[in-house]
Amino acid sequence: MIDFKQLAEQYGTPLYIYDLEHMTGQFSSLGSAFKGRKSLMAYAVKANSNLSVIKHFAQLGAGADCVSIGEVRRAMLGGIAKYKIIFSGVGKRDDEIREALERDILYINVESAAELERVDAIAQELGIKARISIRVNPNIDPKTHPYISTGLHDNKFGVDLDTAKRMYIRAKNSKNLDPVGVHFHIGSQLTELVPIREAAIIVADLVRSLQALDIELSFFDVGGGLGVEYDDEKTIEPYAYAQALLSTLTGLDMTIICEPGRFLTANAGYFLTKVLYEKQNGKKRFVVVDGAMNDLLRPSLYNAYHRIELLENDAEATTADIVGPVCESGDFLAKDYMLPMTKHNDLLVVNSAGAYGFGMGSNYNTRGRSAEVAVEKGEARLIRRRETFEDLIALEEEFVK
Ligand code: LLP
Repeated sequence: MIDFKQLAEQYGTPLYIYDLEHMTGQFSSLGSAFKGRKSLMAYAVKANSNLSVIKHFAQLGAGADCVSIGEVRRAMLGGIAKYKIIFSGVGKRDDEIREALERDILYINVESAAELERVDAIAQELGIKARISIRVNPNIDPKTHPYISTGLHDNKFGVDLDTAKRMYIRAKNSKNLDPVGVHFHIGSQLTELVPIREAAIIVADLVRSLQALDIELSFFDVGGGLGVEYDDEKTIEPYAYAQALLSTLTGLDMTIICEPGRFLTANAGYFLTKVLYEKQNGKKRFVVVDGAMNDLLRPSLYNAYHRIELLENDAEATTADIVGPVCESGDFLAKDYMLPMTKHNDLLVVNSAGAYGFGMGSNYNTRGRSAEVAVEKGEARLIRRRETFEDLIALEEEFVK
């Protein structure tokens, strides 16, 4: 049990808290579902890129899926072996491609024909052969929130099958490129297995057709996307997930790579915030708290639901909007939420905040970002200190005339 009250006293609010043992449990359950097959769990660093969290996964043997050179650097600093690091993303700059090649990571996941040309040219300059995979967009509807769907041709990610095939042939014929893998990722917070399996079937067929052209790929990268329970959604069991994917690979001797983010961290994380005021505008009840959209953006951006508990208060509940101090009507943590009448300094625990929580935060309204705390074996430790006003102005101050 996490002693939220004690943590609030010790570290202040708003505060992010991560249960590292929960992360370990999630990592093992997914990893063991793929046991008996060559596999790599490449943690999607964007979900929670705190260095101590990355280090925790590194110690469990994870690889990393990165979407900027900053994330690649973080992954390596956190102790993830370079040969377990993948670099994806639709818009890699030349300097990012160069550094990734110099760092000799597992492969660059290429997302367009134009990018392939840049990787080829930069590898030539460096006098090396660049290991690449190609992100295929299988045009499958993942049936999730439109902002986190990625596997439809309407989305900016990856390339269609025909383009992918041409790119593999182009890569095979280049002395600077070594096509080693194939990748797809159809979306995030997936709760249905059928679209994932359909995508895997399409991509496995592409792998077979490439074999006929003498192009042998070693890595079958199925992306991330496994959904978690925020409310009462029915989620996919790791074992069923693994079986559905592995059954599409009959006859192919490939290492399977997963890029889980949310599955590993979401329900290990809590966002702790304190009640400032209650107010009533006409019939509408508002609970104003010290955490806001700049700390946890998911409710504002996706209308995402996070379960919220009020500690040590069992007064009668009515509905309220739980809102932060930021000057935007879109600044809320929950709408029409059943909550007991609160008092000044009551504590609210926002659940499932370990993925895409802190990382999507900002300094909007000149608000310093929260501190982050890790809990392990009953002990809490600070893993990022709270930002101060001085931190926020540090990059501007010297330029004021
Ligand atoms: N691999 C690729 C190529 C991805 O684009 C993503 C997520 C992942 C792996 C990890 O997906 P996960 O296992 O975490 O679902 N900010 C949104 C989620 C954006 C996900 C972007 N890509 C949210 O808060 O729901």
